[in-house]
Amino acid sequence: MSRKNIIAANWKMNMAPSEAAAFLDPFLKAFPEPTPVEIVVAPSFVSLPKAAELLAGQSAVGLSAQNMSHEKSGAFTGETSAAMLVEVGCQYVILGHSERRSLYGEDDVVINRKVHATLAAGLVPILCIGESLEERDGGQLEFVLSQQLEGSLAGIDASQMPGIVIAYEPVWAIGTGRTATPEQAQETQAYVRSVIERLFGGAVAEAVRIQYGGSVKPGNAGELIAQPDIDGFLVGGASLDPASFGEIVKAGF
Ligand code: 13P
Repeated sequence: MSRKNIIAANWKMNMAPSEAAAFLDPFLKAFPEPTPVEIVVAPSFVSLPKAAELLAGQSAVGLSAQNMSHEKSGAFTGETSAAMLVEVGCQYVILGHSERRSLYGEDDVVINRKVHATLAAGLVPILCIGESLEERDGGQLEFVLSQQLEGSLAGIDASQMPGIVIAYEPVWAIGTGRTATPEQAQETQAYVRSVIERLFGGAVAEAVRIQYGGSVKPGNAGELIAQPDIDGFLVGGASLDPASFGEIVKAGF
């Protein structure tokens, strides 16, 4: 089965509304029509309305949030609900990014609640998993990844899985300039797919898209995307520049 590559820009805490507009203006001129890949940009919450306004009326680039609450509404200061994201024009939400896990204490239990809330709202979760260097060096890679997948996908039905994107991001490769080699990424992503097969069956495992993230740049995107189990990227630093992100997108054509 052929899976459509999905290439997403995670802008993290960068790009105020004016900067998001300065990015999207040339980027949408470069990609005015739908491409062979699914392109997604994930601005901060405050830049979502401006980005949605600029993305309206085109279907080449989708809009994602970087996080959301699993609660529907109420006394949750500082939080944002799925319904709010839908209203502002999001189609995707990044969940369980390693920065959310390590800096804001998110665990698989809360990430699992967010996955359920996202699907209930009709949004596509981009679910991040990944091991630290200590875990990899300590022989814990497979254990950590299978725990993260089992925990964050608890209670999810096989029929819902094709609507979920997995992003494998080795923590040691995020923002470090140290990319996983294509062989390392392929081997690990094949393992991730085998866990999905164990949990949900072979047809689901064939359909689910698994992105790679961690120091993806125009110079390494081609050899990474050529790997059979890499179905796109979640890009941090190199997604802040429209030309650089555009080159990464083209690697996925
Ligand atoms: P970098 O591309 O800056 O390493 O960030 C990767 C990442 O965390 C994307 O979510």
